[in-house]
Amino acid sequence: MDEPRNVVIGVSGGIAAYKACHLIRQFTEAGDSVRVVPTENALNFVGAATFEALSGNPVDTGVFTRVDEVQHVMVGQEADLVVVAPATADVIARIAAGRADDLLTATILVATCPVVIAPAMHTEMWLNPATQANVATLRSRGLTVLEPAHGRLTGKDSGPGRLLEPEQIAELARTVASTGPIGRGLDGVRVLISAGGTQENIDPVRFIGNRSSGRQGFALAEIAAHRGAEVTVVAGDTEDLPVPAGAEVVRVRSTRDLEQAMNSRVGSADVVIMAAAVADFRPAAEVSSKMKKGVANDALSRIELVENPDVLRGIVDKRRAGETSATIVGFAAETDDVLSNGRAKLQHKGADLLMVNSVAGGAVFGQARNSGWLIGADGSTEEIADGPKHVVATKMWDVIEAFQARRSLAN
Ligand SMILES: Cc1cc2nc3c(=O)[nH]c(=O)nc-3n(C[C@H](O)[C@H](O)[C@H](O)COP(=O)(O)O)c2cc1C
Repeated sequence: MDEPRNVVIGVSGGIAAYKACHLIRQFTEAGDSVRVVPTENALNFVGAATFEALSGNPVDTGVFTRVDEVQHVMVGQEADLVVVAPATADVIARIAAGRADDLLTATILVATCPVVIAPAMHTEMWLNPATQANVATLRSRGLTVLEPAHGRLTGKDSGPGRLLEPEQIAELARTVASTGPIGRGLDGVRVLISAGGTQENIDPVRFIGNRSSGRQGFALAEIAAHRGAEVTVVAGDTEDLPVPAGAEVVRVRSTRDLEQAMNSRVGSADVVIMAAAVADFRPAAEVSSKMKKGVANDALSRIELVENPDVLRGIVDKRRAGETSATIVGFAAETDDVLSNGRAKLQHKGADLLMVNSVAGGAVFGQARNSGWLIGADGSTEEIADGPKHVVATKMWDVIEAFQARRSLAN
């Protein structure tokens, strides 16, 4: 686990202020010390007593309380991470203008640690050029402004502007604390990612599946979306993971469904990542009624299998045929001779980059952490150190972005 941190959670006056209570929990339960700094208006939505009880620390909104402690400077100086959630259009404007007329804005002006802003507002306010200009200003100064989620807003309307889920904000904020601000290197880049495990039906109640949780694919999608990409995720089984905010999610079940969903979208993608764990084989025939055990010629004990299509190879073939120009990234889970097996697989598949994981001893699948090597067809090898899957995703995108830049220079 990471070292405990001093985390400042700024809360501004939006309807989603109640979600800050869950966010506080995310950090206190991880052992961090939390200081909540609401705006005066935030207290119209959630009372100071709730924030004090949840954080175990005093709550002030102005700079003229506890003056002997010089709070307007001290809170920002002592912070290891500042997260503002929800961030209103108004507080974003005040931070962009360099105001310091309350404890939250003064804290942000003083803080030299990572600052993560999670906006929440109506779509019109979010898309307004004034807000977008303020967001661009904050990003240009090295603050991370997360993309809001699309979805149901306060009233009946829906669109971009919804606060991300507290778990997503906490995970992204921790990632920023360990890898630095989330840049915008993928602005306008179209990314297609497969994630999760496929399931091949045996009969109406049984299937052949695998232990992939979809966490790594979703983390790649999430980081790409916050770096400005237009992201589509073709997702098999992903347990009950929250869907990556800002990405379009297409649900599939079998490898053949996944192949079809990927193939129909690959033509308009700039980067394709095959992070799904696809079944190599499927039952030769799907039986329409439940198979019984113990009957004569027990068919359950002898399920005939046929090979599934190789989706990654198929995408490489499409590029050879000129149907896509996307950069193609694959995954390989190996238990032995990880790097040499990975190199052989990369050559066999014809992808540009391959993330090779060691899955010996139950590592990786369904786990919160990952590690491995991102190997390139050009012979390059980047070691990706052990870390949470969002941190691994961040490092993978750094390598993929650099690869994209080399590729566009060469073309
Ligand atoms: C019921 C209600 C809900 C609001 N929700 C939001 C919101 O989600 N996002 C936002 O930017 N402003 C919202 N506002 C407007 C802000 O409260 C207002 O701009 C205020 O000045 C923000 O102050 P602060 O940024 O200092 O907290 C809402 C106002 C009301 C009355």
